[in-house]
Amino acid sequence: MAKRIDVSGLTAYYSTFKAIEDISMTVEPRSVTAFIGPSGCGKSTFLRTLNRMHEVTPGGRVEGKVMLDDENLYGSGVDPVTVRREVGMVFQRPNPFPTMSIFDNVAAGLRLNGSYKKSELNDVVEKSLRGANLWDEVKDRLNRPGSGLSGGQQQRLCIARAIAVEPKVLLMDEPCSALDPISTLAIEDLIGELKEHFTIVIVTHNMQQAARVSDRTAFFNLAAVGQPGKLIEIDDTERIFSNPSVQATEDYISGRFG
Ligand SMILES: Nc1ncnc2c1ncn2[C@@H]1O[C@H](COP(=O)(O)OP(=O)(O)OP(=O)(O)O)[C@@H](O)[C@H]1O
Ligand SMILES: [Mg+2]
Repeated sequence: MAKRIDVSGLTAYYSTFKAIEDISMTVEPRSVTAFIGPSGCGKSTFLRTLNRMHEVTPGGRVEGKVMLDDENLYGSGVDPVTVRREVGMVFQRPNPFPTMSIFDNVAAGLRLNGSYKKSELNDVVEKSLRGANLWDEVKDRLNRPGSGLSGGQQQRLCIARAIAVEPKVLLMDEPCSALDPISTLAIEDLIGELKEHFTIVIVTHNMQQAARVSDRTAFFNLAAVGQPGKLIEIDDTERIFSNPSVQATEDYISGRFG
C-alpha cells in the first residue's frame, strides 16, 4: 500500500543536543500509530518533526527526510505553514482560543485560509463538531466561549478545530493525559471514527490506550540520559503487546522499567 508518511534517517537537535537519532518508519493512510517509550526518549520531539513544529523551538534543527505522500516536507521551497495545515496537531492540554466562541474556535483555521461565505462556514463548523462528537452538546451555545466547556469537551473542540481544515494527518501528543476516564474513552472512541478519514499518530504513556486505539505501535528508548532517543521497533500493535522482537520493548510494556 502507498505510504502516507515515510520518514528516513531523521535526526533532530536542540542546538547542539541530539534529541533523537536516525529514525526511519512508514505510516499507512487511515491508520492509527501509537508512540510509546519512557519520558525523555524523544516522542514529542519526533512528533513535532512530522509537521515542522520542531524548528519553531529556538535551536530546533532536523536532518533527514519526511515524505508526506509525494512531498518531502523538508524540501526546498516547502512552506511550513502549508505543512501544518496538512498535518494538524492536538496537544496534551486542551488549548481552545480563550476569548473566542465555540463557533469561532472551529472556524479559525478556515478563516486564515481564505474567505468563506457564512453558510459555508456554518456547514464546516457543524460537520467538524459532529466529526468530533461534540455537536449535540454545544449546538445551542455556539456563541459562548470555548473556554467555558469541560476539559473533555475542550479537547474535542480542539479536535474539531484541527479537522475543520481537513488535514491528511492528525498528530496527538498525550491528548487524554489531562482528562478523566470517561472523557478519555470518548476521545479513544473518536480516534477510532476519525481514522476512517485521517491518518493518526498518537503519543501515549497509557499502554492500554495504545493497545486499544492503535494499529501499529512504535517503541522509543534511550540508552542513557543525555543520549539521543532511538526507535527500537515498530510493528503491529498486537504483536508489540504479545510478542515483541526486542527484549527492551518487552521490559517496557510489562512495566519492568520506564
Ligand atoms: N525545548 C527544548 N530545548 C532543549 N531540549 C529539549 C527541549 N524539549 C525537549 N528537549 C529534550 O529533548 C529530549 C526529548 O524530549 P521529548 O520532550 O521529545 O521527550 P518525550 O519522549 O516526549 O518525553 P515525555 O514522555 O516526558 O513527554 C529530552 O532530553 C528533553 O529534555
Ligand atoms: Mg512528550
